[in-house]
Amino acid sequence: MEDKIKEFEQDIEKLLIKSKDEAESFRIKFLGSKNVLKDLFSEIRNVPQDKRKAVGQLINKLKNKAQDKLDKFTHDSESQEDENSDLDLTLPGENVSLGSRHPISLVTEQIVDIFKRIGFNVSEGPEIEDDWHNFSALNLPEEHPARDMQDTFFIEKDPDYLLRTHTSSVQVRVMENQKPPIRTITPGRVFRNEAISARAHCFFHQVEGLYIDKKVSFADLKQTLDFFAKELFGETAKIRMRPSYFPFTEPSAEVDVSCTLCNTKGCNVCKYTGWLEILGCGMVDPNVLKNCGIDPEVYSGFAFGMGVERIAQLKYQVKDLRLYSENDVRFLNQFKSAL
Ligand code: DAH
Repeated sequence: MEDKIKEFEQDIEKLLIKSKDEAESFRIKFLGSKNVLKDLFSEIRNVPQDKRKAVGQLINKLKNKAQDKLDKFTHDSESQEDENSDLDLTLPGENVSLGSRHPISLVTEQIVDIFKRIGFNVSEGPEIEDDWHNFSALNLPEEHPARDMQDTFFIEKDPDYLLRTHTSSVQVRVMENQKPPIRTITPGRVFRNEAISARAHCFFHQVEGLYIDKKVSFADLKQTLDFFAKELFGETAKIRMRPSYFPFTEPSAEVDVSCTLCNTKGCNVCKYTGWLEILGCGMVDPNVLKNCGIDPEVYSGFAFGMGVERIAQLKYQVKDLRLYSENDVRFLNQFKSAL
């Protein structure tokens, strides 16, 4: 019996486990449900009574030895696997890529900054507006045909409320609540009931400007917009004004900026005209001043409004309006350097 135990002991000590398969055969032989040590245990009854305890202990030791050997192999092979893996702790860390400002935010900020430099403050108003602030006070009474110029989303429960179609509504709120001189710039989101396409969207962004004081003239308007265009598009940018119609201004004009890509020679961006339309403007209609509690005999002023997507399109050559709201990172990533 003792010889057998010694033999197994030597087996366990000498045996070299080199692979997982060998480890498995070793486990079955010495530790599995039908292992050889069990046979030894069952033979214990043939050992004289006084030696049984000692022999039992020897067999238990043998079992522990086998278990230790197997554990050692498993541990060694696991750490070997770790060593062989591609983990290189000396490599520099992976870059966590940061987000970037949205082009609409970038351009809005640029526009607002330019006007802040010449004394304009920033004001904001609600996106859900009432008929008075969006239309009536701006010289667009009910049934006025010019209301059709802006397809409107009305609030179903109460059609006196609507999603503002332009930021001109904030002009009215400012004039109602502040005394001239007023010099304010209003960025914000506006909504129109239009089918979504590359050239139209049901929501977009505008920046509105308003200047009310004594003796404000059309020349002030022109000078202000000329300064703005040069700041935004560069020293060589020129503006031209074309007569137009808006119910809230009289006279009204549309403003074009010279195409900075072709220097007014004509290219496919300016459709070979040399000019790009950027905003609408005019002298605030005396009726609008009256509606807002400002005496048109004492005060005059100018207003202008521009589309931010339009300006961003000109600055960054974005041809499809839908890109601005799709949140495609391949598009947005391109504005990282513009930060
Ligand atoms: N509200 C006009 C629009 O959405 C833009 C505009 C034109 C605003 C002339 C003005 C302005 O303040 O004077 O099309």
